[in-house]
Amino acid sequence: MYETWEELEASIKQCNKCKLCQNRTNIVFGTGNKQAKVMLIGEGPGADEDKEGIPFVGKAGQLMNKALAGLGLNREELYIANIVKCRPPSNRVPEEDEANACLDYLRNQVLLVKPSIIVLLGSTALKNILGKEYGITSARGTWIEKKGIFYMPTWHPAALLRDENKKIEFWNDLKEVKKKMQEFI
Ligand code: URA
Repeated sequence: MYETWEELEASIKQCNKCKLCQNRTNIVFGTGNKQAKVMLIGEGPGADEDKEGIPFVGKAGQLMNKALAGLGLNREELYIANIVKCRPPSNRVPEEDEANACLDYLRNQVLLVKPSIIVLLGSTALKNILGKEYGITSARGTWIEKKGIFYMPTWHPAALLRDENKKIEFWNDLKEVKKKMQEFI
């Protein structure tokens, strides 16, 4: 556990705990408000994120930003990170050893941010944070409280690009998040 953001980021920049380090251009550490009430957790960087070193800057991210802005949730108010910090080849799902090697970094980020709410974007985030027994189709849209943190699983924004029907559910889930935020002001 690192006490400072600088130490944590420096250690990830040098990380070679899994094979994803071999092809990275940049680590994608995380971005946003380091004292955010709400944290968003995705899966892992894609090509655009690997190039820029910032999460959710590609097509899926732009769609997510639009939804957030539509609800008056500025992306800069939130903290955004991923399960893995380096891009999996061909955007495949991170393998178990890769996710496990990286999870302590994310736990460290959660400890530093101290969010009240965590939005889990898609199955990879859900299963790695709350457990393999959860499925995104049945868990999405429902609050799950653990150790004082309220978790809201929802679709990964990339799923919305493949299936238009998921957009309304994603929107409704984010609306729930906005409502819940009022409890923590
Ligand atoms: N998909 C993710 O899960 N994370 C990103 O940062 C970009 C795309």
